[in-house]
Amino acid sequence: MDMLEVHVWRGNASGRFQAYEVPRRASQTVLDVVTYIQRHLDATLSYRFACRVGMCGSCAMVVNGRARWTCRTHVDKVVAPDGRLEIAPLKNLPIVKDLVTDMTEFFDKWAKARGYFVPTRTRHDPFAVVRPDSKERQAADAGIECIGCGVCYSSCDVVSWNPAYLGPAALNRAWTLVNDVRDGGRAERLKAVAGNAGCLACHTHMSCTERCPKHLMPTASIAGLKRATAIAALKGEL
Ligand code: SF4
Ligand code: SF4
Ligand code: FES
Repeated sequence: MDMLEVHVWRGNASGRFQAYEVPRRASQTVLDVVTYIQRHLDATLSYRFACRVGMCGSCAMVVNGRARWTCRTHVDKVVAPDGRLEIAPLKNLPIVKDLVTDMTEFFDKWAKARGYFVPTRTRHDPFAVVRPDSKERQAADAGIECIGCGVCYSSCDVVSWNPAYLGPAALNRAWTLVNDVRDGGRAERLKAVAGNAGCLACHTHMSCTERCPKHLMPTASIAGLKRATAIAALKGEL
């Protein structure tokens, strides 16, 4: 039987890779490999997943050096020519155990970037109508499909150098809301993302945009925030 040589991170930050042999199968995903190990070889292996269809964002790991969603990553596309597969937890986040990272700071940064909708109407008002072909709606739509997987955050060198940096996902979310004509938090949000740990820290390395599994473009969203905060600063609004 064709076998994969799989090296999986075990333990916390001072852990190490442990080797397993997993049967290779057609259309096998990286998440299938991890699940096989946990069910057949070592029940103590910790990892996270929920939907298995690319919707929940919980299964992201570093596979052969690159952050990916593992439920939609086929082994054939990422395995080394010698059949070796290395699976590690996401970078730039504390490791809880094995392949599980603590996402607290990732989501705390969404809150710091004011990545939540601020309503301007009550439930008694009529629904807001936003034309699908309006410029603002299309700008908001461009970043709306984020599943919060953390692949971009794990791939961003600036997050590694500057742990306070809000990061691509939180800033992408902020830009989506800046373009939401129904939202009432624009001024406070621009203030929140204008500081040294905000959009100006991005060095436009593009790793986030290259690796986002949903093909979003956080780099473009951050560029939009840089323009919007510059205009707000010129108007004395920051
Ligand atoms: S473009 Fe900016 S946010 Fe994206 S990976 Fe590069 S430095 Fe990080
Ligand atoms: S922007 Fe893309 S890579 Fe980043 S959290 Fe959202 S879906 Fe994941
Ligand atoms: S398990 Fe939900 S995105 Fe992979």
